[in-house]
Amino acid sequence: MKEYLNIALPKGRLGEKVYAMFEAVGFDCPSIRENNRKLIFGNEAVGVRYFWVKPSDVTIYVERGAADIGVAGKDILLEYAPDVYELLDLRTGVCRMAVAAPVGFRDDPARTLRVATKFSEIAQEYYNRQGREIDLIHLNGSIELAPILGLSDVIVDIVETGTTLRENNLEVVETIIPISARLIANKASYQFKNERIRELSEKLAGLVAKKQSEADT
Ligand code: PRP
Repeated sequence: MKEYLNIALPKGRLGEKVYAMFEAVGFDCPSIRENNRKLIFGNEAVGVRYFWVKPSDVTIYVERGAADIGVAGKDILLEYAPDVYELLDLRTGVCRMAVAAPVGFRDDPARTLRVATKFSEIAQEYYNRQGREIDLIHLNGSIELAPILGLSDVIVDIVETGTTLRENNLEVVETIIPISARLIANKASYQFKNERIRELSEKLAGLVAKKQSEADT
């Protein structure tokens, strides 16, 4: 019997896309497609066990070894700097971290800029680099509301299609960094389950490259 590889996937649309990639390279677990509210699924024949966790919690499971590997957005990796290995850019869940403001906003460099965000580390680091003094307002969601209600001047948030910004009369002022989903590994697991983790990572790298070349043609 193969030793189980424990894999933490981000619950939601991204997780489903990512699972399809794992399945395509032979790390399948058919029970995961059952329509129920279970959070953990195993396939003994292949030796995989998947669990769905909140996207921002994937790094916690992997860092502490409750999961051997997982998939997390680069945004989470930059914000929390977990002690894990980043093995591969899966080139899915592509979006960007950006500064956005009400349409027509003009920054006054003489004033402290009020910045609302869920990504305090990323925002602080970005403005430190610019030598700009900010008043950081940490929020946990619906960040777009802050400038509308006058709570902040700008926001630092994830922009995917741009729909949320448009529908709230906001626009991107500057892109901070491109974001995509990354395969990450627990450092001890990477030593002890090296062969399996490398096999999976290499197969996924092949799949990502194949998808990329199809998209380029
Ligand atoms: C993110 C982000 C924006 C939205 C951007 O929220 O905070 O609100 O997606 O996507 P768009 O450019 O395609 O409109 P998410 O759905 O991750 O949930 P959250 O409110 O928990 O951040």
